[in-house]
Amino acid sequence: MQVEGNIGPIERLDVQAVAVAVFKDEKPNTDYLKKLDELSGGLVNAVIDSGEFSGKEGETSYLHLVGNNKLKAQRLLLVGVGAKDEYDAAGASQMSGTAVRSLRDKKVNSIAVAPRSSGDSSEIAAVAVEGAFIAVFDPDKYRTVEKENQKKVDRIVVVIEGADAGAVNSGVETGRIIGESINFTRDMANEPGAYMTPSDMAERAREVATEFGLSIDVLDEARMEQEGMGSLLSVSRGSEQPAKLIILKYTPPNVDESNKELLSFVGKGVTFDSGGISLKPGENMELMKYDMTGGATVIGTMRAIAQLKPPIPILGVAPCTENLPSGKATKPGDVVRAMTGKTIEVINTDAEGRLILADAMAYAKKLGATKIIDMATLTGAVSIALGDVNAAVLGTDQPLIDEIISAGREVGEKFWQLPLDKEYSKQIKSDIADIKNVGGRKAGTITAAAFLKEFADGVAWAHLDIAGTAWGDEAKPYRSKGPTGIAVRTLLKIVERASAKK
Ligand code: BES
Ligand code: MG
Ligand code: ZN
Repeated sequence: MQVEGNIGPIERLDVQAVAVAVFKDEKPNTDYLKKLDELSGGLVNAVIDSGEFSGKEGETSYLHLVGNNKLKAQRLLLVGVGAKDEYDAAGASQMSGTAVRSLRDKKVNSIAVAPRSSGDSSEIAAVAVEGAFIAVFDPDKYRTVEKENQKKVDRIVVVIEGADAGAVNSGVETGRIIGESINFTRDMANEPGAYMTPSDMAERAREVATEFGLSIDVLDEARMEQEGMGSLLSVSRGSEQPAKLIILKYTPPNVDESNKELLSFVGKGVTFDSGGISLKPGENMELMKYDMTGGATVIGTMRAIAQLKPPIPILGVAPCTENLPSGKATKPGDVVRAMTGKTIEVINTDAEGRLILADAMAYAKKLGATKIIDMATLTGAVSIALGDVNAAVLGTDQPLIDEIISAGREVGEKFWQLPLDKEYSKQIKSDIADIKNVGGRKAGTITAAAFLKEFADGVAWAHLDIAGTAWGDEAKPYRSKGPTGIAVRTLLKIVERASAKK
């Protein structure tokens, strides 16, 4: 898909359709609506007056301007964006996505999107392009007939009338990098377990490292043994597929030797979670292919970072393994020793994410991490607590947690903090070892984080539980169902903000 920037005016654009944003209950006498009404030969006011379009968020109205010679495109899509004072960058991204999906359904393949926002035109152009990329992703990769994406969008023009062309164009480029990287993560998450084994994840990471210039190291099981990663290895024991620990590192062009800060992302890469000997019920088990979304998020985010080239170094770590039962698999009651030396009683082999993250976090620290954000489809309990609207954030560093919540708000991803009082750690005390890997029925998302906290000494740490938000059961006007790509944009916003402080 080709993307380009434009500074208008919209009437001259050489595309099949132009999509414009309209606020809720916007009065037809504003200059903006007056112009649109004029360009449409009175149709815009007619549609608004009829009450069939009120500008509610996600609402659309598609107008064919037959014989009209004022708007070159001759097709106009009104996209409702809700209340004016609530419309922000996240809203502009969704407006663009809604426009693209709605026009694609009509078999339009060259589209101009006018997201209409005051503020930084480079930023608005970027989020509109991101929204367009997110919109065209469909999970039906293996369908051979009647594919959604057979209606293909070839060209997107993001128009910000009267803006500086250079700013719009640089925003478009940023948006392309971020949008493609989000879809890269979504594609990985969507792959069946058979096509996205730990080795496949390592191969994708290698391709990214080679194409965009990151350093990469992949630890095999022999090296994990040497490092004493008994916790991570206990999960892969039952599988024929060997575990892989993927390390990606971005180093900025001009390294600042005095800077000892190393922001690190650590993501759970369980390429299929059957539960192991503590086998899961069959219903919905097919979805456990997306249990590697945290790892894919790290790789996708690093893919964008390599191209955006921020002035700070970033480390990405993805422990990857299957979780399967077999005669070799770890059994409930077994005790394993993590890289830090801590012993863990494995009560439930289905609480495997925390076991692999424990060693991955220890290794990130060994590589110099000073700040760790880990992300994982860690607990079913997070869906009970927060549904598919908010991801949970917990951790030991309140400024880092606040930064995640506020960066998320800026890009339209919601994170809600859950408490992590020390009392919860009592639930993971073991009778036989230092800790155990489950904390009972109460506060499942919190006790999972309390487990990870045992491996977060000496670093600023926050944990994102994305089990409820990484997969959408229903399509939205701006996004298909399936993998959502949650957290990529938030992590990139955090990097952008940290870069601005440099
Ligand atoms: N991969 C699951 C969590 C999950 C559930 C992700 C639903 C996405 C959707 C995780 O490994 C798991 O099985 N957690 C257990 C922990 C329990 C045994 C303490 C859970 O949530 O039931
Ligand atoms: Mg194995
Ligand atoms: Zn599990």
